[in-house]
Amino acid sequence: MRAVAVNAFGEEPQLMELPEPEPGPGEVLVRLAAAGLNPVDWKLADGLFGDAVKASFPLVMGSDGAGEVVAVGSGVRRFTAGDPVFGQFQRPERGGGSYAEFAVAEEAALAPAARSVTYATSAAVPTAGMTAYNLVEEARISEGRRVLITGATGGVGTFLTQLAAGRGAEVIATARPAKAELMRTLGAAATVDHTAGPVAEQVLAAHPDGVDVLIDMTSDAEGFIELSRTVRDGGVAVSLIGSADADVLTEQNLRGFNFVNRPSPQLLEILAGYLDAGRLTVLVGREVSLEEAPEALGASRTGRAQGKTVVAI
Ligand SMILES: NC(=O)c1ccc[n+]([C@@H]2O[C@H](COP(=O)([O-])OP(=O)(O)OC[C@H]3O[C@@H](n4cnc5c(N)ncnc54)[C@H](OP(=O)(O)O)[C@@H]3O)[C@@H](O)[C@H]2O)c1
Repeated sequence: MRAVAVNAFGEEPQLMELPEPEPGPGEVLVRLAAAGLNPVDWKLADGLFGDAVKASFPLVMGSDGAGEVVAVGSGVRRFTAGDPVFGQFQRPERGGGSYAEFAVAEEAALAPAARSVTYATSAAVPTAGMTAYNLVEEARISEGRRVLITGATGGVGTFLTQLAAGRGAEVIATARPAKAELMRTLGAAATVDHTAGPVAEQVLAAHPDGVDVLIDMTSDAEGFIELSRTVRDGGVAVSLIGSADADVLTEQNLRGFNFVNRPSPQLLEILAGYLDAGRLTVLVGREVSLEEAPEALGASRTGRAQGKTVVAI
C-alpha cells in the first residue's frame, strides 16, 4: 500500500510502498478515504517527544482519519466490515498512522462517522475536535464567561470558538484582519490582531477588567506569563504547548495547567452528532494528495496553516 512515513525521527516524511497492516485482537482495519493533518504529526516525525514515545519504523504519519472498515480482529464488538468510521490511528509503537491507504486502530479509538458529511470533513475532526471539547469542560467555559483564545484561527481554535460561543461564553479570538469576519461568523464576540502588537495590551485596552479564561496555543513560557496578565483574579489560564508554570500561576492567584488531551469513543460520538445536527462547522482550508502530504506537513510546521488540511487518499 502507499503511505507517507519516516524511517527515523528527524527524517523528512516521504511516500513509500509498505505492507498492508493486519488487525490483531481488539483492532479494526480501515480503508482510509481521508486523513486529517495536525501539528502533532510533524512533531512526532521530528522526534520532539524524545524518549516519551517508543516507535517502530517505518513510522506512518498521521493520527486522524476516516474511511470504511475492511476487517476486524477477534473480540471487536462495535464494528463490522463496511461500517463508515472516523477516529485516531496513530500508534507509534506499531508503526503508525493514517497517511496511508489502510490503517489499523484500536476499537476504542474509532466511532461511526457522521452520515451527513464527507469523509474529508470527518477526518478533519478527531484530534482538534476532542481537544476543543475537553478544553471547554476542563476550563469550565460557560454562559457569560469571557474567554481569550490565541491561535483561534487554527484547527483547535475554530472548533473551540464555536463550542465556547455555543455555551454562551464571550469569545475574544486572535485573528489577522482577513480572518476576523470568519471568526465572528463562528461565534467570536471580538477579535484581536496578533500581528498588530502585543495581544495582552490590546485585550486589556478593550477590556480593562480582563478575561475569565485564557486558552493559549501559541506562546512560550515567557509569552504565557505575559498573556496571563489578562486573566482576572481567580481565573483560569491554560497552555496547549506546555508553557504554563503552575507555581507562577498560583502566585498570580490563577488556576492554570498544561492541557493534555484525553480522547474517547464517547467524545467522537458526540462530535459526529454535532456534525449531523449542523452544530459544528469544519473549515477544510486545503485538500492534498498523499504525494503532497510531506509538503503540507512542512506548511504546518510554519504555524501558518489556514483551516484544517486534509489528505485525500
Ligand atoms: N496539548 C494537547 O493535547 C494538544 C492538542 C491539540 C493541539 N495541540 C497544539 O496546539 C497547537 C494548535 O493546534 P492546531 O491544530 O489548532 O494548529 P493549526 O491548525 O496549525 O493552527 C495554528 C494557528 O495558529 C495561528 N497562530 C500562529 N501564531 C500565532 C500567534 N503568535 N498568535 C495568534 N495566533 C497564531 C495561525 O494563524 P496565522 O497564520 O493567521 O497566524 C494558525 O491559524 C499546536 O501546537 C498543537 O500541537 C496540543
